[in-house]
Amino acid sequence: MNEGYVHGYSDAEQERLIRMNEALNPRCLRMISLEGDERILDLGCGLGILSRELANRVPKGSVTGLEFNPKQLARARQLAAQDGVADQVRYVQGSVYDLDQLFDQPFDLIFTRFLLEHLEDVPKALSHCYSALQTGGRLIIMDDDHANFRIWPHSNLFQEAWSALCSGFMRRGHDPYIGRKMVSLVYDAGFRESKIDWVRFGGCADQPDFPIYADNLIALFQGIERDLVDKEEWSISKIRNLHTELACWKEKPDASLWYAANWVETVKI
Ligand SMILES: C[S@@+](CC[C@H](N)C(=O)[O-])C[C@H]1O[C@@H](n2cnc3c(N)ncnc32)[C@H](O)[C@@H]1O
Repeated sequence: MNEGYVHGYSDAEQERLIRMNEALNPRCLRMISLEGDERILDLGCGLGILSRELANRVPKGSVTGLEFNPKQLARARQLAAQDGVADQVRYVQGSVYDLDQLFDQPFDLIFTRFLLEHLEDVPKALSHCYSALQTGGRLIIMDDDHANFRIWPHSNLFQEAWSALCSGFMRRGHDPYIGRKMVSLVYDAGFRESKIDWVRFGGCADQPDFPIYADNLIALFQGIERDLVDKEEWSISKIRNLHTELACWKEKPDASLWYAANWVETVKI
C-alpha cells in the first residue's frame, strides 16, 4: 500500500509538502480550538510540521505524530532536530489500521489532513479513529475533493493532467473525491455533531501568496511524471508542453487558481 502512495517520497515531493505546510498551517491552526491540555494524534503526519505547531498550542498536553513511511518520519525527526525541538512531538511509525495495537491511552483529538484520500479502506480507518478517541473526543479531518479544483485562463493540458492525477488515485483504489463524502463516512463510523468548513488553498495573480499555490500545482505534476508516462501514455514532449503551459499561465496577470479543501469536525459522543 505504501508503494501505492500517488505522490511518492522523493526529495522534491518532501519540499512540496514543506511549502504546502507553510501556506496552510496558519489557516488550519486558527480553525482548531484547543484548551492547551489535549492529548492529540496527528494521523498520517507526513513531515510532522503541523504536529509541532499543534504541540506549541498544548503546553500541558501532548502530540503524537503517526506516519506510515520511514523516509517521511526520518525527515520529520531531522526537521524537528534542526529547529532544536526534537522532544516536542513523539513520532511513531505505523498505519492508521493499527491504532488499536499502537496506543493504549485514548486521545482527546485526532487530526488528519490529506490522508483519507490515500487509503483503500476509509471506513476501517475511521472505525480505528473512533476506538482511539475517548468519549467526547474530537476528530478533525481535512481532505481533498479534486473535482473542486479549477484554474483560469483555461488550459486543455492542465485539464487532461488533472484527470490523469485523479485516475492515478482510482487505479490505486483511493478516492480523489473523498472530501464531499466525509460527513457520511464519519456518521457511519458512529461520530455525531459534525460541522463542515472550507480551507482556501488557492488565489489569483494579484495576491502575494499566489506563487505558492501555482508552484504547488506545478510540483504536483512533476511528482507524477512517471505515472503519466507509464500509465497514461504521455510522451516526454507532452509533459514538457504541460510545464511550459503552466509556467506561462502562472505569469499571466489574470491567472487564478480556485480551490478549497474540505474540513469536517466531529465528535465521539
Ligand atoms: C499528503 S501526505 C500529508 C502529510 C501531512 N498530514 C500534511 O498535511 O502535511 C499523506 C501522508 O499519509 C501517509 N500515509 C499513507 N497511508 C498511511 C497509513 N495507512 N497510515 C499512516 N500514514 C499513512 C503517507 O505516507 C504520507 O506521508
